[in-house]
Amino acid sequence: MKIAVIGLGKAGLPLAGVIADSGLDVIGVDIDEKRCEDINSGRNPVPEERGLDELIEKHGGKGLTAVSSYEDARGCEAYIIIVPLFIDGAKNPDFGILEAAFRGVGRIMESGDLVVLETTVPPMTTEKLAKRWLEEESGLTLESGEFFLAHSPERIMTGFSISRLREFPKVIGGVNPESGVKAFDIYKKFIPNLRMVSSARVAEFIKVIEGCYRDVNIALANELFKIADELEIDFYEARKYANHEYCYIHMPSTGVGGHCIPVYPWFLIKEMERREKYDYSTILRVSREINDQMINYWLDKIVLACMKIDKPIDEIKICIRGITFRDGVKELYHSRNLALARLLREKGLKVYVSDELFSREEIEKLGLDQIEPGDADVVFDPFRLEVTIK
Ligand SMILES: NC(=O)c1ccc[n+]([C@@H]2O[C@H](COP(=O)([O-])OP(=O)(O)OC[C@H]3O[C@@H](n4cnc5c(N)ncnc54)[C@H](O)[C@@H]3O)[C@@H](O)[C@H]2O)c1
Repeated sequence: MKIAVIGLGKAGLPLAGVIADSGLDVIGVDIDEKRCEDINSGRNPVPEERGLDELIEKHGGKGLTAVSSYEDARGCEAYIIIVPLFIDGAKNPDFGILEAAFRGVGRIMESGDLVVLETTVPPMTTEKLAKRWLEEESGLTLESGEFFLAHSPERIMTGFSISRLREFPKVIGGVNPESGVKAFDIYKKFIPNLRMVSSARVAEFIKVIEGCYRDVNIALANELFKIADELEIDFYEARKYANHEYCYIHMPSTGVGGHCIPVYPWFLIKEMERREKYDYSTILRVSREINDQMINYWLDKIVLACMKIDKPIDEIKICIRGITFRDGVKELYHSRNLALARLLREKGLKVYVSDELFSREEIEKLGLDQIEPGDADVVFDPFRLEVTIK
């Protein structure tokens, strides 16, 4: 059996590697030719992913062939699509990349094929948009059973994707019952812990609400952290004893970044807006606001620290020790730590950055300057939430 994975990024490549490792032939399609070349030569373009080096070395250019043209993926029985979905300036989903991928598959698929969407999407994207794109391009229709369509959200975490794919429960749901059964049977060949749900819509919702849960609970932790600080209470001590089976207070932060958690609540907020059900998504909207505003709270803390130093404030060297959205992951999308560094600079403060994941040139390209933490007057560690005066 030959399976195509469309999009060989941080999520798609580990999946393609796991499928190849289970003995199936995989054709990976990615518009990035350099990435395809690397994979076919056994070089892993996602080095931070544990265990992926070995899989790409073993299967790259053999059981897993990467191609940059959809035409070269003809003849597969199943097409798995996992390309990014971004939100635009007004927070609405921008379906451009997804549409290109579905139309690309629509042009090469044949009667009896299965298409599965793994990208996290607003509920009903698979049954409405994906179905329409495929039908328009292929001339086949879903209702007459000429192809099958399902959703199975990727539930990985960068760095741990392979173990997640092999152990963590993965859900799959069809846009009709026949699609659900077909998708389950094929996925079972490479996903050991697979659960079938009643529809693609439920599968989509599962992933989106996981993200919403995290965002809301991080917002709650951030709010409680600020209140504890105001009341001179050690938040971490309180949290330790407050948490038990029915109470799980999350960790506070500088906000929530990356491609996932700060994006998914907007899928539901915007849909409720379209339906004029504004009050259905109040907590989602407020949580987004609390998390995004956390950089202002940390700005105040840093300024307070600066005021303890006997120097004019605009001469004090402030170091932000880490600009990625998460510790150890080189990703800046919606990074609140980068946003904090830029906010300090906007306020006229002398802000510098120290981040071992970035070279001096890369930091300068972001419009910031590098510093050794030891050379700064005030150091803020955004992952430990510590402001230190040197
Ligand atoms: N990375 C994660 O931790 C993670 C976790 C859970 C879910 N996801 C889901 O996976 C999706 C993809 O994320 P990612 O981290 O893999 O993104 P990524 O940016 O690392 O990779 C996307 C890949 O798709 C390719 N691509 C873009 N347009 C294409 C097209 N038209 N045809 C073929 N390939 C195309 C790009 O060249 C790139 O290699 C996310 O939108 C999200 O829904 C990711």
